[in-house]
Amino acid sequence: MGKKENCVDKSSMRIRVDYNNMLSTAVGEHGITLEELEGMRERLKAALASANSKRDSMRWRDLYKTERDNLSNILEVAEFIRYRAENFVVLGIGGSALGPIAVQQAIAHLHHNDLGKAVTGCPRIFIEDNIDPERMAALLDVIDLDKTVFNVITKSGSTSETMSQLLIVTRMLLDRFGEKDLREHLVVTTDKEKGNLVGIARKYDLHTFVVPDGVGGRFSELCPVGLLPAAVAGIDISAMLDGAELMDHLCSHEEPEKNPALMLAGIEVLAMEKHGANIGVLMPYADSLKYIADWYAQLWAESLGKKKLEGGKMLRFGQTPVKALGVTDQHSQVQLYTDGPFDKTVTFIGVENFRKTVEIPHVFDDIPAVAFLSGHTLNELINAERVATEHAVTISGHMNKTILLPEVNEFTLGQLLMLFEMQTAFAGELLGIDAFDQPGVEEGKNATYALLGKPGYEEKLQELKSSSAKSDKYII
Ligand code: PA5
Repeated sequence: MGKKENCVDKSSMRIRVDYNNMLSTAVGEHGITLEELEGMRERLKAALASANSKRDSMRWRDLYKTERDNLSNILEVAEFIRYRAENFVVLGIGGSALGPIAVQQAIAHLHHNDLGKAVTGCPRIFIEDNIDPERMAALLDVIDLDKTVFNVITKSGSTSETMSQLLIVTRMLLDRFGEKDLREHLVVTTDKEKGNLVGIARKYDLHTFVVPDGVGGRFSELCPVGLLPAAVAGIDISAMLDGAELMDHLCSHEEPEKNPALMLAGIEVLAMEKHGANIGVLMPYADSLKYIADWYAQLWAESLGKKKLEGGKMLRFGQTPVKALGVTDQHSQVQLYTDGPFDKTVTFIGVENFRKTVEIPHVFDDIPAVAFLSGHTLNELINAERVATEHAVTISGHMNKTILLPEVNEFTLGQLLMLFEMQTAFAGELLGIDAFDQPGVEEGKNATYALLGKPGYEEKLQELKSSSAKSDKYII
């Protein structure tokens, strides 16, 4: 169940980017100067042209078109799951889980699982993106296999975490239901031909959704990776694609001043290159957007955290993403963002209209220091605190910017996802790196295979053994 009817006036639902406070005109000597910004113009235009010329290998950018043909298929399977299941469990990690988590949190009721199917019309949703044995055991304690459908999501079909979850679940399902009925409980999302899941799905005739070519994990939310779990939760996936379409249109504009993702990429790269902003804080002021910060952290970190050999020198790139939540983290992190070092930018995400209004009643009117709150709403308070924090960060001289959503709904969320994806792609172009690979992650995956005895990784195991010798001297 969405928090409101899926009926959106799109003309008033465009999200806005305000980057005034990134500039020295607002924050002083640690901000980007107008000369620096002007000096970036040609580089921005070149980055746009280069990204456009690679559109064929950036298929994630076209998902709002290409997935339209797949929508009826996704909705049909989602409907079957909604009708049949009490529990829907996603097995996946990284790009195969963070998008579904973020979208579920943004659009579904914040206590979706507690409300129950009689109220929501949807199964409880669990997105299992870790292999903590206690977590897996805890999940199994609260779901009834008879009433559960699992969706295993892995583009590569080989990630150890997801495959071990799959082995555990499949063993139980086969023992309980036999081979014939496995398809009633297990849906697969993977590459169309590569990886181990393709053969497994064929063997058991499992319903299979495809992660299209040119769509990497962290750019996959708008394909079945994200669309199926969202549809199972009753989220309007067509409106999400509409939002992405609008943002792609805006981010195709040749003038950097009119292209939100290009400008965001430009000012963030300038902040890194010229002002030592090695850290990028993302701070949404809405619980519904809390996990957008997690999704963004992967997108930004995994895409830009790269090294490149140039002129015999190893260059290192990237900006460390930090997740924060307004107003909660005003009381834990903001002291650092005002009085701490000038090594970061802060990006606030604000929401103009919340889907619920909660009034603060008159109770202690005889205590002026408390009574001033009465008669206001929590809506006013949270937005006042966002504006106040922006002000505090600005007058302390720290670069910050705000992305403003008129409301959180499927249409604005689709815009936001596309905005960040495009920003990341443009930043990759500006830095001259490949934003779409992840060699460091692959290294960790390979070392895990070696440690657990996967055939073909014997040499890697030797390498691990020789490099992991530790001296007792440095262990207390
Ligand atoms: O963005 C990425 O490519 C990664 O984070 C992957 O999504 C993650 O490693 C999981 O990979 P897979 O979907 O192949 O299991």
